Amino acid sequence: MIIAIDGPAAAGKGTLSRRIAEEYGFHHLDTGLTYRATAKALLDAGLPFDNEKIAEGMALKVDLAGLDRNILSRHEIGEAASKIAVMPAVRRALVEAQRAFSKKAPGAVLDGRDIGTVVCPDAVVKLYVTASAEVRAKRRYDEIIAGGGSADFAAVLQDVKVRDERDMGRADSPLKPADDAHLLDTSEMSIEAAFQAAKSLIDAALSRNT
Ligand code: DC
Repeated sequence: MIIAIDGPAAAGKGTLSRRIAEEYGFHHLDTGLTYRATAKALLDAGLPFDNEKIAEGMALKVDLAGLDRNILSRHEIGEAASKIAVMPAVRRALVEAQRAFSKKAPGAVLDGRDIGTVVCPDAVVKLYVTASAEVRAKRRYDEIIAGGGSADFAAVLQDVKVRDERDMGRADSPLKPADDAHLLDTSEMSIEAAFQAAKSLIDAALSRNT
């Protein structure tokens, strides 16, 4: 039983995915962390980001059990992750690990950019979670401020737009909704309302599939 959740950066898909996994007792994988872990390994080793072979070697070594968002959340890791995510060899290595994870019983929730389109095209439910760039930038900005940091809203917004362009514009597995995905625009929706909407869709799919 696989639930695929895709969408752009800061759309709320992580929080939503964790809540769904908790509700149904499913395993959860934030696939962005696999790209981030590969990027961090390159950064730590002082290796370049433009060598597909080297990046692929790092991707093959990523341990899904050791992924920690607290360690991987740094801005420069996200930037680097989005750059190596355009490399087909890196994607092949990580997608294979993600597919193996998706087969875990009794079910798995995977969130990312290409779960419904490439990683798990047979998922029983596909959600495409989005929100306007302004709303996503505001959420990210508020998070930084709440964490005691400082930020410039215009710069955060610019960053969100650049990341969208890179994620949607790449040739291999660009971010886009699967044809059979349900769209959830969270621009004017609380996370609780988004969760309830997702739950109705999942419950309906589960009752059709059992
Ligand atoms: O969701 P995130 O910010 O942690 O993802 C970091 C980068 O990883 C993102 O810019 C694009 C890439 N990514 C991807 O290409 N495919 C996925 N399934 C998940 C993330």
